[in-house]
Amino acid sequence: MLKKKVEDLCNRQVEREGYSMNLYLAMASWAEVNGLAGVAGWMYAQAEEEKLHMLKFVRYINERGGKAIIPAFKKPPSEFKSVENMFREVLKHEQFVTASINEIVALTLQEKDFNTNNFLQWFVMEQVEEESSAMAILDKLNLLGKDNMYQFDRDIMSLRGTGGNPPAAE
Ligand code: FEO
Repeated sequence: MLKKKVEDLCNRQVEREGYSMNLYLAMASWAEVNGLAGVAGWMYAQAEEEKLHMLKFVRYINERGGKAIIPAFKKPPSEFKSVENMFREVLKHEQFVTASINEIVALTLQEKDFNTNNFLQWFVMEQVEEESSAMAILDKLNLLGKDNMYQFDRDIMSLRGTGGNPPAAE
């Protein structure tokens, strides 16, 4: 049975993962209408991953005797200054998500909730990949220069790591 404090933070994470999905969908849409099919593809794939992250939390909360709450999501921005600026936002957002996951991990240790702690370990490693993937893209942008967007857009999908597809919630 989940303790209320842990359940509340897991539900907060449902909202954060869902917002992440919408943020990446907004970025995908912006890229698509600006002729950046590769960047859009990367963002759509990222949004799919975030949906799976959200579902993992929903299923886990319910499985442990809690109740997952599906929240309203804040509207993500629809305009971005540039591709580089957008990926800086991606990195910043993923650092925020990492801190959020770490906060739940710390609570599970405090509450001696080792089941939830174990469940969260997948997310701890996933965040390493999420941040390193955003940093790799920013490095690539630096190397290519902002005037080489055609090549960047063509190659971006090859910069996706393993795709980070999590196993389905059990
Ligand atoms: Fe689910 Fe990108 O954090």
